[in-house]
Amino acid sequence: MIMTGTFVALLTITALGNLLDDVRIKTQNSGGVGLWTPNIEDYYTNLSTFQIFLADRYIKFYVKACDNAFVLLSAATNLQSDSYAICIGGQGNSKIFLRVRRNGAVTSISFPESGILSCSEFKVFEVNWEESGRITLMSDRGTVMNWTDTTPIQIQGLGIMTGWGSEGLWILKHSSLFTGYYCGESDTYGNMTLLSTTVQRSRVTCTLKCSTRNDCLGVNFNGNTNTCEVVAGGQPVVKSVVHNWKFYSKCLHENKACLACIV
Ligand SMILES: *[C@@H]1O[C@H](CO)[C@@H](O)[C@H](O)[C@H]1NC(C)=O
Ligand SMILES: *[C@@H]1O[C@H](CO)[C@@H](O)[C@H](O)[C@H]1NC(C)=O
Ligand SMILES: *[C@@H]1O[C@H](CO)[C@@H](O)[C@H](O)[C@H]1NC(C)=O
Repeated sequence: MIMTGTFVALLTITALGNLLDDVRIKTQNSGGVGLWTPNIEDYYTNLSTFQIFLADRYIKFYVKACDNAFVLLSAATNLQSDSYAICIGGQGNSKIFLRVRRNGAVTSISFPESGILSCSEFKVFEVNWEESGRITLMSDRGTVMNWTDTTPIQIQGLGIMTGWGSEGLWILKHSSLFTGYYCGESDTYGNMTLLSTTVQRSRVTCTLKCSTRNDCLGVNFNGNTNTCEVVAGGQPVVKSVVHNWKFYSKCLHENKACLACIV
């Protein structure tokens, strides 16, 4: 059973200065799956779009989940191929597992770490992967996993998931300059809280109203009426199909991470 629901990401961005800073994602319960499951990549929410993390070789996030929150580091952007899966709060929130899939074979290492996740509180984590093959997981307890692969897998793809009865709310932290790119979707309307509604000469003058505001996620622009709606950041992206509207969202890191376009 492929859980398409896993990909219904709840995205929120908030802006700080000219930095868009948070991405919120909700992951469903993928069930009792692991690296050994055929097409396991289909159960993960794909973060390969966020080139920023891959370039920086680390990901910092907050997650609220009772147990079994997974981070996948894969040799391929499509999340197939050789991979590491870090399972935080595995086995009833008692262990961290690091599983390695190499040429189809899966091995597993466990690190006892009781109660590291919480059903009611966000917990902060940072995963680092170095060229040398060292993979570390840090939490508010300090380094909770520090392991080195003698034959390192070069990481090109990233995914997150929750399973084994657990669902999760994630906040991915990153900072990157908004460089003026927008990602536009035709016949799409961002049905969200607005900051302003005006009539503008063109799409360009409309997006300009967003570019100058740190609290703006994007704009809805109606090509017939030239109506320009400035959409607020810090809220889930909810889109509907509406003709004549185009929804433009800000991109980070040139056009490599267009937040609202990945859903
Ligand atoms: C994940 O995203 C990357 C980059 O956008 C894409 O190339 C890849 O096919 C996606 N993988 C899956 C499993 O959707
Ligand atoms: C991991 O272990 C190595 C070798 O003991 C050490 O040099 C390094 O600082 C550790 N990393 C973290 C993040 O604890
Ligand atoms: C926007 O969302 C509201 C509430 O869910 C809904 O009633 C309305 O039809 C939506 N508008 C569009 C244009 O989809």
